[in-house]
Amino acid sequence: MTYSRITGTGGYLPEKVLSNHDLEKMVDTSDEWITERTGIKKRHLVSDDQTTCDLAEQAVLGAMEMAGKAADDIDLIIVATTTPDQIFPSTACLLQKRLGVHGSAAFDIQAVCTGFVYALGVADKFIRTGAARCAVVVGAETLSRIVDWTDRTTCILFGDGAGAVILEASDEPGILSTHLHADGSYESLLTVPYGISNGLDKVLEKEAFINMKGNEVFKMAVNTLGRIVDETLEHNQMEKTDVDWLIPHQANIRIIQATARKLKMSMDHVVVTVHEHGNTSAASIPLALNEAVRDGRIQRGETLMLEAFGGGFTWGSALMKY
Ligand code: UT7
Repeated sequence: MTYSRITGTGGYLPEKVLSNHDLEKMVDTSDEWITERTGIKKRHLVSDDQTTCDLAEQAVLGAMEMAGKAADDIDLIIVATTTPDQIFPSTACLLQKRLGVHGSAAFDIQAVCTGFVYALGVADKFIRTGAARCAVVVGAETLSRIVDWTDRTTCILFGDGAGAVILEASDEPGILSTHLHADGSYESLLTVPYGISNGLDKVLEKEAFINMKGNEVFKMAVNTLGRIVDETLEHNQMEKTDVDWLIPHQANIRIIQATARKLKMSMDHVVVTVHEHGNTSAASIPLALNEAVRDGRIQRGETLMLEAFGGGFTWGSALMKY
């Protein structure tokens, strides 16, 4: 049986940092409120001339180096992003050119904060079916471009960044299962309601911003993430105690803590990076994974549970042996 296995990870955060104290000068908020309600201390923002593809490229180069892979080895590129550089080519095609890869499949996936888990699920299926042997899977975002910097209910939450993995065919597990879900009927709770085909004028006037009913999203996220953890363990006939590391989407420390409680997991086994970069949407899980792999917390053979919830609503999980 062929599994897909992570052989390299990478992450990149842009240099510019916006702290909670910086935000105090921009909107009616405080470091105390942001820290207590979200766990976020700072976020990284792109400069005017940086794009999502720039961030993705840096993250992927790190992952390729760790995996010992060259451009010729790659036969699939998937970029999960809500903030692509251009209408087309896809960010994955732009990235393919930067990496010097020719002829591989390359496409974007848009599932907002669940994007990386969706991309991992799709890449896993390519590898299991023999359609690919070495995939680049990236979550990359420049969310600062769709944040209303005068809206204190959202601007304190989001940041820019990218995380990536190299996923390779292997006889050893690997990804055990992925579980992807969506329910579009919740559109109004979390949305940027304009785009190319609907409200292009708002996009051009730079008025296409993230709109969120935070409290309702919060409750849905906590309940849904608890359910998907159970679904994932049941599917694999595993117990909560079998999971070594929880690597959650980094949106809010209180959502992360609630999911850990449901798993009866000590926070010592939960990878938390939300304080460093806020909610980077599709980038948050691979950024957290990369940090815990590189600092030696996550060891080969350990069992990892990845889970995310976001706009759509979309939600998903991946259970794997690292
Ligand atoms: O990535 C996946 C999708 N996103 C999420 O998972 C985010 C989910 N939601 C959240 O993380 C939380 O709901 C927030 C952090 C957005 C808000 O926290 P909350 O505890 O749900 O606060 P709230 O919205 O119920 O607001 C409480 C109070 C309100 O004042 P009143 O009405 O009680 O007087 C807000 O106006 O806090 C006020 N408030 C703020 N105060 C200071 C809202 N934003 C701020 C702010 N600074 N930045």
